[in-house]
Amino acid sequence: MTDTLGVGVIGCGNISTAYFRLAPLFAGMEIRACTDLNMDAARAQAAKFNVDAREIGDLLKSDDIDVVVNLTIPDAHSAVSCQAIQAGKHVYSEKPLALTLRDGVEMQRLAREHGVSVGCAPDTFLGGAHQHARHLIDAGEIGRIVAGTAHVMSHGMEHWHPNPDFFFRVGGGPVLDIGPYYVANLINLIGPIKRVAALSSSATPTRTITSQPRAGDVIPVETPTNVHALLEFEQGATVTLSTSWDVWAHDHGRMELYGTEGSLFVPDPNFFGGDLRMAKRDAGVMPVTGWHHPLSVPNDPHGEGMMANYRTVGLADMVAAIRDGRDARCSIDRTLHALDAMTSILMSGETGQFVDLTTTCSRPEPLDPASASALMR
Ligand SMILES: NC(=O)c1ccc[n+]([C@@H]2O[C@H](COP(=O)([O-])OP(=O)(O)OC[C@H]3O[C@@H](n4cnc5c(N)ncnc54)[C@H](O)[C@@H]3O)[C@@H](O)[C@H]2O)c1
Repeated sequence: MTDTLGVGVIGCGNISTAYFRLAPLFAGMEIRACTDLNMDAARAQAAKFNVDAREIGDLLKSDDIDVVVNLTIPDAHSAVSCQAIQAGKHVYSEKPLALTLRDGVEMQRLAREHGVSVGCAPDTFLGGAHQHARHLIDAGEIGRIVAGTAHVMSHGMEHWHPNPDFFFRVGGGPVLDIGPYYVANLINLIGPIKRVAALSSSATPTRTITSQPRAGDVIPVETPTNVHALLEFEQGATVTLSTSWDVWAHDHGRMELYGTEGSLFVPDPNFFGGDLRMAKRDAGVMPVTGWHHPLSVPNDPHGEGMMANYRTVGLADMVAAIRDGRDARCSIDRTLHALDAMTSILMSGETGQFVDLTTTCSRPEPLDPASASALMR
């Protein structure tokens, strides 16, 4: 194996630009080729980012590609990742890993059989803000976490994404689309989950696209868009997770963790940075500053200002883990556990019963400032 692993991207849609733009921040890997069912999309990204456009079969046969990055739509994830594994490639997938736990477990089996690594987004929990939260929790600042709340609620995706259909199909919905950021961070901060319960609904059976170029198209809603869940963690904490695309506005914190010694107010796990606040016993809520982490430095234009965006750090960590023979932080075991939690939430929403998870995992190793720097060029 050479020091630099070659990366091939499958799926050249909306999110691929972030991967092409941000992967060069990290050491040990290089995007060399891309493909898509729509080869015009692949050729356009290839020209823009100076890589090769190859037919999918050719990319999977290419000796200069060690890792496939799967950026296809959710219901294609499992088939595309398994195809890449069978071609002997390591795989890093966008979330969700698969639509069912059974497909995810089969992927894990296949990866073991072929001796390759599989990792999965999200990697935002590796951002400076969330690693700072992890550092404070591990240092005992808020004691043992006993409870928490997380809210990810908005009015959906049809006002910005050019092809929002997949968000409202099975495999989309707020639990599987945005939930992964929250569940991955809860696993990072608290640990594995024991059982879940949920209530679910959808405000409307269809949605009308307001983004271009398909403004006015009416698309069916085939998965719940309003899901309120309870999570019981193996260490005993109980957390409320509210996910919805049927809410115009709300005033809840994104993530709050309540410990025996204080409370921690965690910024949006969909992003790498943000402000962290903490309240100790009998004291008011105060900002927590003085932590310098390379993955909280604003580097990317967003809205009116700059924000920290280090998407692909999970891929870089997996590449380093392959090289060093260690566990990757965005490993398939953790992703499968998160998928188990999310599909169990959806199942509970259908049946009205608590669902015990059948998988578990360890917390990922923290990514302290020095370890994060080591992943960067
Ligand atoms: N758009 C975002 O901001 C965003 C953010 C985070 C994660 N994601 C995740 O990234 C994934 C892709 O999202 P997107 O917004 O880029 O979607 P998209 O629809 O814009 O792009 C998906 C691309 O995959 C291609 N594709 C579909 N099936 C394929 C197959 N079998 N083989 C090869 N190519 C195939 C499509 O032709 C399309 O070009 C999703 O899983 C999504 O959840 C997206």
